[in-house]
Amino acid sequence: MPSTVILEKTIYTIDQLEEMPLPQLALAGRSNVGKSSLLNKLTGRKNLAKTSSTPGKTRSLNFYKVLPEDFYLVDLPGYGYARCSKTEREKWAALINRYLRDNVHLFGVVALLDSRLPPQTLDIELITFIRSQGIDVFPVMTKADKCKQPVRSANQTAWQRLLGSEKPPLLTSSHSGMNIDKLWQFFLEKFAAVQHTE
Ligand code: GTP
Ligand code: MG
Repeated sequence: MPSTVILEKTIYTIDQLEEMPLPQLALAGRSNVGKSSLLNKLTGRKNLAKTSSTPGKTRSLNFYKVLPEDFYLVDLPGYGYARCSKTEREKWAALINRYLRDNVHLFGVVALLDSRLPPQTLDIELITFIRSQGIDVFPVMTKADKCKQPVRSANQTAWQRLLGSEKPPLLTSSHSGMNIDKLWQFFLEKFAAVQHTE
C-alpha cells in the first residue's frame, strides 16, 4: 500500500488531456465492474474514488499520484454503459482511446473483468485495442466474493485461453480483500521493471 495518494488531475474532455510525465498504470473495464472500488482497496483509502451501485459513476479520467513509489494510478470512466446517451458513450470512448493511444508513459492497463461473467465482446475489444497499441494488459477478475467457485474458475479458464496467457487472471475482491496485497506487489514489480529500462 502506498503511504500517500493524491488526486492530481481530473480530465473530462480530449482538450484537457496533457502529458503527465510519470509512469502510469490505468484501470479499465466496463461500467460497474469495480474499478474505483479496487483503487480504493489497493490504496487503503476507503473514499478516495467515488463508487456507486449505479453504473456510470466515474465520468472522468482521474490521475492519482502514489508516493513514495511515484507513479500514477489512473481511474478511467467505464465503457459500455447502456443507459447514457449514445453521444455521451461515444465521447467517453473517444477520450479513453485518445488517452491510450501513443501514451509513452503508460506501462500497463489493468483490464478489470467481472468474475461472474464469461468473456464479453466489449472486454475483448478493449483488450485487443490496448494490445494493438503495444501496451501490456494485466487482466484481473473482480467481485470474486459474489461468485461461486466453479463459475469463477470456469470464467478464469476461459479468459486464460482467450488471452493465451501462462497463468489465469488473478481473482480479486474489493469487499473481502482477496488477493489485493498480491495485486499491489505485482504492480510494484511491473513499475520496478519499467524504471530499469528507462
Ligand atoms: P463506473 O465508475 O461506473 O465505471 O464503475 P466502477 O467500475 O468504478 O465500479 P465501482 O467501483 O463504482 O463499483 C460498482 C459497484 O460494485 C459498487 O456498488 C461496489 O460496491 C460494487 N463492488 C465493487 N467491487 C466489489 C467487490 O469486490 N465485491 C462486491 N460484492 N461488490 C463490489
Ligand atoms: Mg468508477
